[in-house]
Amino acid sequence: MDALPRIDSSRLLRRLDELGRLGGTPAGGVSRLALSDEDKLGRDRLLAWMKEIGLDVRVDRVGNLFGFRRGAADESPVLFGSHLDTVRNGGRYDGAYGVLAALEVLQTLQEGGIQTRRPLLMAAFTNEEGARYAPDMQGSLAFVGDLSVEEALAVTGFDGSNFGDELRRIGYAGDFPCASIRPYACVELHVEQGPVLEKEGICIGAVEAITGISWQEVTLRGAANHAGTTPMDLRRDAGLAAARIVAYLRDLATDLGPAQRATCGMIAFQPNVINVIPGEARLSVDLRNTDEAVLRQAEARLAAFIERVAAEEGVEVERRRLVDVAPARCDPAVVAVIEAAAASLGLSCRRMNSGAGHDAQILARHFPTAMIFIPSQGGVSHSPAESSTPEDLTAGANVLLRTVLELAQ
Ligand code: GLV
Ligand code: MN
Ligand code: MN
Repeated sequence: MDALPRIDSSRLLRRLDELGRLGGTPAGGVSRLALSDEDKLGRDRLLAWMKEIGLDVRVDRVGNLFGFRRGAADESPVLFGSHLDTVRNGGRYDGAYGVLAALEVLQTLQEGGIQTRRPLLMAAFTNEEGARYAPDMQGSLAFVGDLSVEEALAVTGFDGSNFGDELRRIGYAGDFPCASIRPYACVELHVEQGPVLEKEGICIGAVEAITGISWQEVTLRGAANHAGTTPMDLRRDAGLAAARIVAYLRDLATDLGPAQRATCGMIAFQPNVINVIPGEARLSVDLRNTDEAVLRQAEARLAAFIERVAAEEGVEVERRRLVDVAPARCDPAVVAVIEAAAASLGLSCRRMNSGAGHDAQILARHFPTAMIFIPSQGGVSHSPAESSTPEDLTAGANVLLRTVLELAQ
């Protein structure tokens, strides 16, 4: 055992449990959609904990939460954290783990009386998931200045709500300016959300690259008509056109290789009646790849297929771009610090890519950034079944602690 401190594992697990109950669902999942009442409960709880340990707490204009801890020198800070919002019926660790581990790291340093040279800055970014408002990573986009505050506040959600109104309603329209902090380096600790670490029996992932993400909404307009009287060859069936696009997504991904992902997660028919041919269909498309050229190829091939289907089915098409985030490379020096931190704790570690989107990929455009992953049981995430072992949760937080200490010296 070396002299460096360790985080308090039982305190971290207790807080994960407590936060997981805010927006908790009967099946053990969490629905804490961005700027919902449940998100407010999570934010209130986190802020109380941050204040309890003496952090200087700030809320910025898009609701990002920050906790500052002074350094011995007046230099740019080391930033670490993640997000508190979840998808609908998601898990308790996606985002929450990175935020509560950041809090735990700071509390460990406070209690150990350990002063760092650089200031430390924990962050909980607003609307990472994009489950209620697109774009995803909205808070980090505004933090780095890639999305203006005005644009962020004007976003209309999938539920018709306005981002700015909801932010004010829950009391988190702060006044700390966006794009005003330039961190020295950034680290995000997160559950892997995939099967790689568990399958290989490895404890820590040092993330080198994060997937690019392309989201669009496709609206198809045909003609609503009677399900019994309209001959099959005289239909303009928007539902059928949508179904053909959904089926094509699998073929497209299969064709472009294992790094390509393609998903339709939302679909809605109008008028949505059993004996009426759908006059309108609206669907979402989520395309991902860590190779930008292949991602662009996927977009182009899908666009051509949609045009073909529209012509064959006699429907009109409207496409709306929701997200266009290029793949990100993590900073090799920060990746190396993570590897060294894992090694110093005797933990196995491998380099890997992330297929999930993260605030880190937005931070990485502007500041040296990398991510720490721990195994997800069964590779499951965005599901109530999402889980990680107490041992891995503890190990990841200790790797974060050492990584931050090294970067801040
Ligand atoms: C967020 O978790 C995403 O990858 O979409
Ligand atoms: Mn996440
Ligand atoms: Mn997520």
